[in-house]
Amino acid sequence: MSGIYLDYAATTPVDPRVLAAMLPYFTTEFGNPSSVHRHGQRADHALETARATLASVLGCAPRDVLFTSGGSESDNLALRGLALAAREGRGANHIVSTPVEHEAIRATCHQLRDHFGFELTEVAVDAHGQVSAAAIAAALRPDTAVATVIYGNNEIGTINPIAEIAAATRARGVPLHTDAVQAAGQLPLAVGELGVASLALGAHKAYGPKGIGALYLDSGFGLLPTQTLGSHERGLRAGTPNIPLIVGLAEALRIAAAERDEHNAHQRRLRDRLIAGVLDTIPDSRLTGHPVDRLPNHASFALRGIDGNALLMHLDLAGVAASSGSACKTGDPRPSDVLLACGLSPEWALGSLRLTVGRATTDADVDAVLALLPALVARLRERARQPERRLASGS
Ligand SMILES: Cc1ncc(COP(=O)(O)O)c(C=O)c1O
Repeated sequence: MSGIYLDYAATTPVDPRVLAAMLPYFTTEFGNPSSVHRHGQRADHALETARATLASVLGCAPRDVLFTSGGSESDNLALRGLALAAREGRGANHIVSTPVEHEAIRATCHQLRDHFGFELTEVAVDAHGQVSAAAIAAALRPDTAVATVIYGNNEIGTINPIAEIAAATRARGVPLHTDAVQAAGQLPLAVGELGVASLALGAHKAYGPKGIGALYLDSGFGLLPTQTLGSHERGLRAGTPNIPLIVGLAEALRIAAAERDEHNAHQRRLRDRLIAGVLDTIPDSRLTGHPVDRLPNHASFALRGIDGNALLMHLDLAGVAASSGSACKTGDPRPSDVLLACGLSPEWALGSLRLTVGRATTDADVDAVLALLPALVARLRERARQPERRLASGS
């Protein structure tokens, strides 16, 4: 790969060990796990071995692990399924969420509100984008069907106190779903300690393949499936299981758990160099997200008076892959909802920059980006001021 890649929160390359584990299942071991013959039996064995591997990473029973097409589907399946089952089971009609969830959660909440008649409470976050257990507890009602809180935030890196929040919701009999897509590979995933009812995972942020994910679902909670067809994945998810990708997901998350301390130490050191370097050398810059409770690989900033998209394009021209961290697309001048929820003004929020490091990031990468950024930001600010000058001079 040429250039400097600092967008590991968007996606990661597949670890060669993961690829090696997957390859036979594309070719010689191609069976369908539903088939009775030996090809099917071998595929079924691979499927159940992957489920057991992931269950040991999560510290749960294999039957509580479902395979899906990715983090987005896991979020959709859990949130919609838990909400609809709670309505059917106990007439519950209310959902608790936060304004800093990933779109997979926010859009599902909005659909449940706008098309299925649920009431939605979005609990305010603090200036670091963190939500407290007390704030979630205060929003719970006797008719709350489900609560959902992101574990590690994709945009600002903030880690939420999921175990405390889950204890508060459990005490009121409300299942807590958490989106752990960014947390996977970086934070502890032992579901017994987290106390959640469901937890969404994907492989491609943790050096696994794209298009595959998993859902931990505590079988004590009912879930209404949103796809219907036969018996796959406890009858909760339709379709022939994608064995090569499932094997890759399990191997990626097994490796990530085994090597977590080593990779986190490396990433945390580089992340902290990026944070200190940007804040020291760029005037009118601030860290977004939590200063301490943040993902080990995640540095994110707001740069006042900058067009974040223009900055990303200039960085790309200079060979640096970065992100604004928000869902806002090139040419869309809206500031991110997550940054606004943290109390930033649009003038700051429009200049968002996310730099996420990975296993292969080096000190030389960090040095190069820190050498480049201050002049680039100054140039963009200068350019933004030029129309004002032209206007003032009447030219
Ligand atoms: C926090 C979070 N949740 C969910 C997703 C969606 O995951 P996937 O790409 O596997 O559907 C992402 C990916 O961007 C994410 O960062």
